[in-house]
Amino acid sequence: MPLIAIQGCQWGDEGKGKITDYFASKADIVVRSQGGNNAGHSIVHKGVRYALRSLPSGILNPRVTNVISEGCVVNPTSLIDEISSLNKTGINNFKLLISNRAQIIMPYHIMLDKAKEQALGNSKIGTTGKGIGPCYSDKASRLGIRFGDLLEPDYLHQRLSEVLIIKNMELKMFGLDAIDTEACYRDLLKAGEILKPFITDTSLFLNKAIDAKKKILFEGAQGGMLCLDHGTYPYVTSSSPLATAIPLNAGIPFNSLNDIVGLVKAYTSRVGEGPFPSELFGEEAHALREKGHEYGTVTKRPRRVGWLDVAELNYIKQITGVRHIALMLLDVLSFTDELKICVSYSINGKLIDYMPSTIAEYNKVTPNYITLPSWKEDISTITSFDKLPSNAKDYITTVEKLTGLEVVIVSVGPDKDQTITRKELF
Ligand code: IMP
Repeated sequence: MPLIAIQGCQWGDEGKGKITDYFASKADIVVRSQGGNNAGHSIVHKGVRYALRSLPSGILNPRVTNVISEGCVVNPTSLIDEISSLNKTGINNFKLLISNRAQIIMPYHIMLDKAKEQALGNSKIGTTGKGIGPCYSDKASRLGIRFGDLLEPDYLHQRLSEVLIIKNMELKMFGLDAIDTEACYRDLLKAGEILKPFITDTSLFLNKAIDAKKKILFEGAQGGMLCLDHGTYPYVTSSSPLATAIPLNAGIPFNSLNDIVGLVKAYTSRVGEGPFPSELFGEEAHALREKGHEYGTVTKRPRRVGWLDVAELNYIKQITGVRHIALMLLDVLSFTDELKICVSYSINGKLIDYMPSTIAEYNKVTPNYITLPSWKEDISTITSFDKLPSNAKDYITTVEKLTGLEVVIVSVGPDKDQTITRKELF
């Protein structure tokens, strides 16, 4: 299967960095197709932990070409910082391409992201504060600045001057200082000088690679329930993390994807505000959070944690057609004697077979659970399904039965070696 997409099936942080890195050893190309440095993918590579933000997870492998495609928003300063931290650890020999159509996260996007959150007070979204929403809003309002513009200094100056007329009005409305056109222009030119060698038509590159039968891995960012259209709106990100959005976001034919590997944490976590029907609180939440090291890669915020939610997984299956999943962080579940799985939602005592579309409706949801025994053994060194404790095997097969999804990979620790492969897909 030459073209595979990795898709987070929950609210992000399902361990996409690890699995992408795992597949990247077999890939020729790894693509980030949406989102920006709101994503934080941790990868443990040769014993060193790397926290990647905008860079695709194949970046540590010198054989792999890494692509940031049209659907992404990129902060040039943060990207340059990411590249220099890799250089500091001796990683200089990487291949990177940035789409000339990718949007640039500007300083005013970050200022407006924070100001809007503050203005919303208790109703804030809990964004990562990286300017993602304002950048995508400007893309849709046709006020965005793109990487290709960096290569055309005269046009860039004209464009920036026009855009700043409107952006400075907006900043003023929030009581923020105006952006100086010339200083901002100089910063962009400087960033453009550094990033110029990477900027290209990545859609053309990918289409040629598809024709040449290259192995391409589309690395997802965030998770399906954070999708702007299908997630827990408005508590979502500003792009679609669903794999079905990849062809559009990368400029490739709709039918070129061969498969989707859905990433599912063996439990659930979420950062930021918004509905989370199977959420745990108090001592139980604390124990699970500590065992799973559930603190944000980007923001370091403690993540909210809860039981695996099959109602939510079945919804992601319904809207994307995912069939294969990797069950991540299974080793974490030995934190307690009994495990629960949310199997469905009820509203006013009645089972529902759809996902609520409003927060008001989510607030009425009661999760229905089944209970399974846990295991106390350390499973982090087990590399075959048969050697897992029987309760762990039962947990996996129960997930398969409840969802009709096939668990093709089981992850039992952060390292690449701590992976049980039940079916080779790539
Ligand atoms: P934004 O993407 O920064 O606008 O944040 C919108 C929502 O998406 C917030 O709840 C964030 O915590 C969440 N979010 C954004 N990126 C990620 C991610 O990579 N993992 C998990 N949650 C994320």
